[in-house]
Amino acid sequence: MRHIIFGESHGPAIGVTLEGVPAGIPLDMEFIRGEMARRAPGRSPLATTRREKDEVRILSGVFEGKTTGTPLCAIIENTDTRSGDYAKLRELPRPGHADYTGIVRYGGYNDYRGGGHFSGRITAPLVFAGALAKLILRMRNVTISAEVCRMAGVDDPTPEQQEAVILAAKAEGDSVGGAVRCTVTGLPAGLGAPDYGENTEGIFAQQMFAIPAVKAVSFGAGFGFADLRGSQANDPFYLDGGAVHTRTNHAGGVNGGITNGMPLVCQVAFRPTPSISREQDTVDLRTHADAKLVIKGRHDPCIVQRALPVVEAAAALAVCQLLGI
Ligand SMILES: Cc1cc2nc3c(=O)[nH]c(=O)nc-3n(C[C@H](O)[C@H](O)[C@H](O)COP(=O)(O)O)c2cc1C
Repeated sequence: MRHIIFGESHGPAIGVTLEGVPAGIPLDMEFIRGEMARRAPGRSPLATTRREKDEVRILSGVFEGKTTGTPLCAIIENTDTRSGDYAKLRELPRPGHADYTGIVRYGGYNDYRGGGHFSGRITAPLVFAGALAKLILRMRNVTISAEVCRMAGVDDPTPEQQEAVILAAKAEGDSVGGAVRCTVTGLPAGLGAPDYGENTEGIFAQQMFAIPAVKAVSFGAGFGFADLRGSQANDPFYLDGGAVHTRTNHAGGVNGGITNGMPLVCQVAFRPTPSISREQDTVDLRTHADAKLVIKGRHDPCIVQRALPVVEAAAALAVCQLLGI
């Protein structure tokens, strides 16, 4: 199953085309709507006030409630756009965002409004694709969950701790980042391979890095391995009713690029939202002079919580790839 996400933040719609979807999957629209709602903006003081219903319209690939196996195209209309907020970003690129690299890469032809194709909004169709992947994986008893595992120096912060740091940053015209732990259970041992293209960690990392604002991906003890001894890092084996398990899971369920049957645990770090309301240094690309930038528009002071279903979606697509779906 391959997918291509299309659209821009302030264009008429965003969407995804999926190719190679297995035929006959019942499309549980209630589940899909629930997943879309978990990501949608405008529902919390911790997120952007842009209000989007994120209603999915399926144009192809579904007939009588089931997938047909032919390309599935789904679109989500953009209904709450205020492009005027972004006019100056064509000349004054936002530090931390992709305005500058987008202009360079696409020769200035890219739709810069609202971040264009670099907007966090393109994660809505990703969540749709992930929901479809989850429906397929549900039949194989694979479960995927994500939670915030770090924010502002605190490990496994409670919702109250998260809210406090986000609101404090917002009050100061600033933003915060954080990390998400994603756990996949139900994967058999033996999926993947050590080599490029088939490596389990590589497949996951590619899907995760396609999420805007993701800046690091690690597995199991991740960067913590750098501080451990082998005796601390190794996961001792034991037998449970004939099945091979490990007592700890520092490897995050992967050895040699191959799943070992333990839960696959992956951590994803998100940068703080680039668009902050404090004045910042930039350059004026028209006059080629140093400039100051004050960003208007509606932005998430923290994207980490809204990104939880997005990380799960990327993981679901990675698992489908691993399973050859
Ligand atoms: C769900 C979600 C919402 C986002 N919302 C915003 C936003 O409101 N303002 C902003 O500047 N960046 C936002 N981003 C992040 C940018 O899209 C991202 O930082 C930018 O495309 C640059 O890519 P990079 O950070 O991966 O280098 C969001 C990302 C996600 C996943």
